[in-house]
Amino acid sequence: MNSEPHYLNADLKFSGIDIPSGKMAWRSPSNIALVKYWGKKPVQIPQNPSISFTLSKSYSETEVSYSPADSGALEMEFYFDGKRNLTFEAKTIKFFKSLSGIFPFVNQLKFVVRSKNTFPHSAGIASSASGMSVLAMVLCDMERQFFRTLQNIDDFLRKVSYIARLGSGSACRSVYGGLVVWGQDESVPGTSDYYGFPVNEGIHEIFTDYQDTILLVDAGEKKVSSRVGHGLMNGNPFATERFGQARNNLTILLHALRTGDTETFMRITETEALTLHAMMMTSQPYFLLMKPNTLQIIDRIFAFREKTGLPASFTLDAGPNVHLLYPKAIKGEMKHFIDTDLLPFLSPKGYIEDEVGKGPEKIL
Ligand code: PMV
Repeated sequence: MNSEPHYLNADLKFSGIDIPSGKMAWRSPSNIALVKYWGKKPVQIPQNPSISFTLSKSYSETEVSYSPADSGALEMEFYFDGKRNLTFEAKTIKFFKSLSGIFPFVNQLKFVVRSKNTFPHSAGIASSASGMSVLAMVLCDMERQFFRTLQNIDDFLRKVSYIARLGSGSACRSVYGGLVVWGQDESVPGTSDYYGFPVNEGIHEIFTDYQDTILLVDAGEKKVSSRVGHGLMNGNPFATERFGQARNNLTILLHALRTGDTETFMRITETEALTLHAMMMTSQPYFLLMKPNTLQIIDRIFAFREKTGLPASFTLDAGPNVHLLYPKAIKGEMKHFIDTDLLPFLSPKGYIEDEVGKGPEKIL
């Protein structure tokens, strides 16, 4: 078991007049889970291990300016897409305050945060994954610059992932590129319940540049948050069975990812997507996040696969949008299929042609 790292550190604060002013910015991607995390224990500990592809084009870009806080306590203004956003502001203040034992310096600063996403937020594209991982990147980068800590890249990223997890569980996987496991699993040395762990070594080349076209069925805000959904797993009659199934699916999927077995990859990704939504439908109270057009699309993917034999599969996040997964080599055929068969079922926002990405990037 990889034990919890201890990050409480009262020394990470400025003495007297040395409080700095400056600016930094990071870009951090979303990720799509192939084996899903759904159900947690306090504090943000997953009930089962999960694995995801980090994405490339769906990301948050966040610039943080900092200066000495006049009040002597944490101050913040949060702008989303150029407009002050009090909801995100309150959420981020709460997140930063919750971290004040780990980063005591946050209480000495005024932050002006300017953030934007390349995709619609709260639509089941994990905006919390990119949004929280980018903030974790900034905080750890500030610590590294101000206090000369975290000079080793592995230590740095592990702490970023730990902090991102506290913001939103799945965010801890966005800190690394490619395939990332979160949650302790005996068969994958290095994995932990406390941070994500990249598993890119030995992966078959077909999966290193896999495509994810995100079909936007409904880009509006979803009605039940992930937080509530995770909580409802506590009373779900199938919960224990589900957590065991996810563990098995991870083992099977990792083998498929290493051997280039697209058949098994398709079977596991789809069963994971449908089981995630089955858990929603069997919670009390039950809820549905799929829309009629989600099913229309799934039906057409089945028919397309039957007809062409091409290795295209789907997965779903906690929302109605469909992630269409396929190897880069069939991009042309897939574009034709999407444009002719699937477009009628999409919202005016259409689709995002994404693919496996390399992880966060510092931009300032
Ligand atoms: O990180 P959260 O609390 O938003 O939960 C994410 C849950 C799923 O996206 C449905 C699955 C996953 O593993 O990302």
